[in-house]
Amino acid sequence: MSLFIAFEGIDGCGKSTQARVLAEKLKEFGKDVVLTREPGATKVGKVIREMLFTTEIDPVTEVFLFASDRSSHINEVISPSLDAGKTVITDRYLLSSVVYQGIGKDVGKDFVLNVNNPITKNFVPDLTIILDMPVDIALKRVQNANRFEKYDLQERVREGFLDEASKNPEKVKVINGNQSISRVSEDILNLVLSGGNV
Ligand code: ADP
Ligand code: TYD
Repeated sequence: MSLFIAFEGIDGCGKSTQARVLAEKLKEFGKDVVLTREPGATKVGKVIREMLFTTEIDPVTEVFLFASDRSSHINEVISPSLDAGKTVITDRYLLSSVVYQGIGKDVGKDFVLNVNNPITKNFVPDLTIILDMPVDIALKRVQNANRFEKYDLQERVREGFLDEASKNPEKVKVINGNQSISRVSEDILNLVLSGGNV
């Protein structure tokens, strides 16, 4: 049975690390796992990613660029993998656009959802894992900060993620990211196993 898991959280909270660890653990359980990320999982996505990190872009344009990246990501990676019964683990997905552009940069959550809905409506993660931790600690972990990694934005983003989780507690879970890598991965594995999909 296919399974779709998204990792979310502020920059530097440990998503890439934990997505990798979970992928390895689920492979040990015999799952066929595809580990992927946004932005930049596809050929066009890599071009979009380069643009996003090297150019000053207004937040509304960002919404469309992230949505374009997501559209190619779904068409080329997520949809075929789920159709083949695989487990897809993505490092960031729609909630990042809702929270960074919609809330953090004030574009508005409805705007972001309206742009993304035609693309994502049939591809809703079974489980979204938010790694939560204080911004100052997470930013200390980040090397070569990109233009998204500003303290004030990250504070708004952190609150945005927690708020979204509280609105959808069934499918969006918060894990304390401010623990050792092994403690965090233990919490995540317990959460995934308790969902009954593995
Ligand atoms: P993200 O993908 O959320 O930006 P990463 O997984 O890339 O975060 O982690 C950012 C940095 O912090 C990396 O150098 C990583 O090795 C380190 N790191 C990840 N998790 C932890 C942790 N629990 N404790 C300490 N350092 C961590
Ligand atoms: P990345 O280097 O992948 O950072 P991280 O390791 O924190 O995931 O950079 C992705 C950046 O893009 C990150 O700052 C969050 C931002 N982002 C958005 O603003 N909106 C989105 O929809 C997505 C997917 C990412």
